[in-house]
Amino acid sequence: MLNIVIFGAPGSGKGTQSEKIAERYGLQHVSTGEILREEIESSTELGKLADSYMSKGELVPDCVVIEMLEELIARNSDAKGFIFDGFPRTVPQGEVLNQLLQHHGEKVDIVVSLEVADEELIDRLLKRGAISGRTDDNRKTIQSRLRVYYRQTAPLKEFYRKQDVLKEIKGVGSIESIFESIVKEIDMISGS
Ligand code: AP5
Ligand code: MG
Repeated sequence: MLNIVIFGAPGSGKGTQSEKIAERYGLQHVSTGEILREEIESSTELGKLADSYMSKGELVPDCVVIEMLEELIARNSDAKGFIFDGFPRTVPQGEVLNQLLQHHGEKVDIVVSLEVADEELIDRLLKRGAISGRTDDNRKTIQSRLRVYYRQTAPLKEFYRKQDVLKEIKGVGSIESIFESIVKEIDMISGS
């Protein structure tokens, strides 16, 4: 299996690059944000709960997303590997992901961190907000998502640096050129 975590602030391009990586390497794309938005769309109990956090730019509680992820990994145990997009988002989530993969004799092989300055992130998300219909793509919620990222999610970089799997990549420029830099790093570790 090849297991990749794509990491970065809101708007850094995780979703955009994940789709291309999933296609290139035949991986299962796991976006916790997308799953939660589908739950909101279907007005499920989980969706209602998630919306109360997401619309404010706060994280959905660990226990909720961890349960979702456990179920998803179990259901896709025959996958060639996973690309985790938007998960983990807290150190406890990172610890659980390691345990879950270990349970299947697997590990996180590489963490690709997309580095983009705040002004560019805000600019991208405001632009997307004009067309996406995402309720969290407005200035106030974007500010809150960035605060939450630096406070709760960014510490994962140190967590993964210590495990020697972190690769920081400049997330600015054309989508293709960023994708090429990512592919270089992945091919280096997967030996292809
Ligand atoms: P989530 O859906 O994960 O959103 P996010 O992390 O805020 O990130 P985005 O999806 O906004 O950005 P992205 O990095 O995917 O960038 P994209 O490719 O879209 O999470 C949403 C919410 O769900 C969270 O706030 C939280 O409440 C909850 N949640 C989800 N997972 C959770 C978890 N594990 N634990 C707890 N809560 C969780 O690109 C952004 C824009 O930029 C697009 O318009 C794109 O076209 C454009 N773009 C991309 N690349 C470039 C480029 N190179 N140049 C110019 N523009 C570009
Ligand atoms: Mg995304």
